[in-house]
Amino acid sequence: MNAPIGVFDSGVGGLTVAREIMRQLPEESMIYFGDTARVPYGTKSKETIIRYSRQIVNFLLSKGVKAVVVACNTASALAMTELQREYVVPVIGMVQPGAVAAMRATKNKNIGIIGTPGTIKSGQYGKYLRQLDPKVTVVTKACPLFVPLVEEGLIDDRITEDMVSRYLREFRQYHIDSLILGCTHYPLLINPIQNFMGDQVTLVNPAYEAAKSLKQLLEENDLCAEKDHTAKYEYYVSDMADQFLTFADRVLPCRVDKVQPVKIENY
Ligand code: DGL
Repeated sequence: MNAPIGVFDSGVGGLTVAREIMRQLPEESMIYFGDTARVPYGTKSKETIIRYSRQIVNFLLSKGVKAVVVACNTASALAMTELQREYVVPVIGMVQPGAVAAMRATKNKNIGIIGTPGTIKSGQYGKYLRQLDPKVTVVTKACPLFVPLVEEGLIDDRITEDMVSRYLREFRQYHIDSLILGCTHYPLLINPIQNFMGDQVTLVNPAYEAAKSLKQLLEENDLCAEKDHTAKYEYYVSDMADQFLTFADRVLPCRVDKVQPVKIENY
């Protein structure tokens, strides 16, 4: 089935997930929506995130998507149950695949999780990890300033190194051997985070595992695109299309030449 996959995020961060889907599923078309008018999601209530997520899934369905990827850790942590219950199309998020990948990576079962305040407060990563292994020890930390640092392009900057050290210092005493990058922006900070944590800590990017889960989900539901299908990508945002374009050019392997505005409150 050559219909597109719907992918959404609060803004540009989900492009790190879109990038992984492009790599692992090159024949699949994609409709990406970034809620750039209402970002950040990480500091908003569960009720608000559920309402926003419903509107976005309604929009994606109006574009004929065959499955939805919630490429936002906060929306995955706060709205997945509702989305999976309310919609007929398969919906997958970041949290479950991220937890699976972390369990595979850890040897000492001490796992760190970083994310937005909403994701960390929800406790969803810890819940899934304990379902996979009740003996796991989970240490969490919200790192809200990482998102604006990435969006400002301050990846290899002193100020980012300082923030990494401030936020992650306390993980050292817990002897974690894996750290879940539980926010779409954090894979772009892999270098400063790895430098600070050291090589003995494996950084887990849920996007990689989510793309793998998506592949499996499409196979199980007989929804895969034909092998020789040429993928097409469309990008939509609720505001600031130019800024989105600049960021997309930094993150994606292909050029984005058109970003279309959507009045998302109408869905
Ligand atoms: N995309 C969000 C996430 O992965 C980060 C940005 C935001 O707070 O909206 O949680």
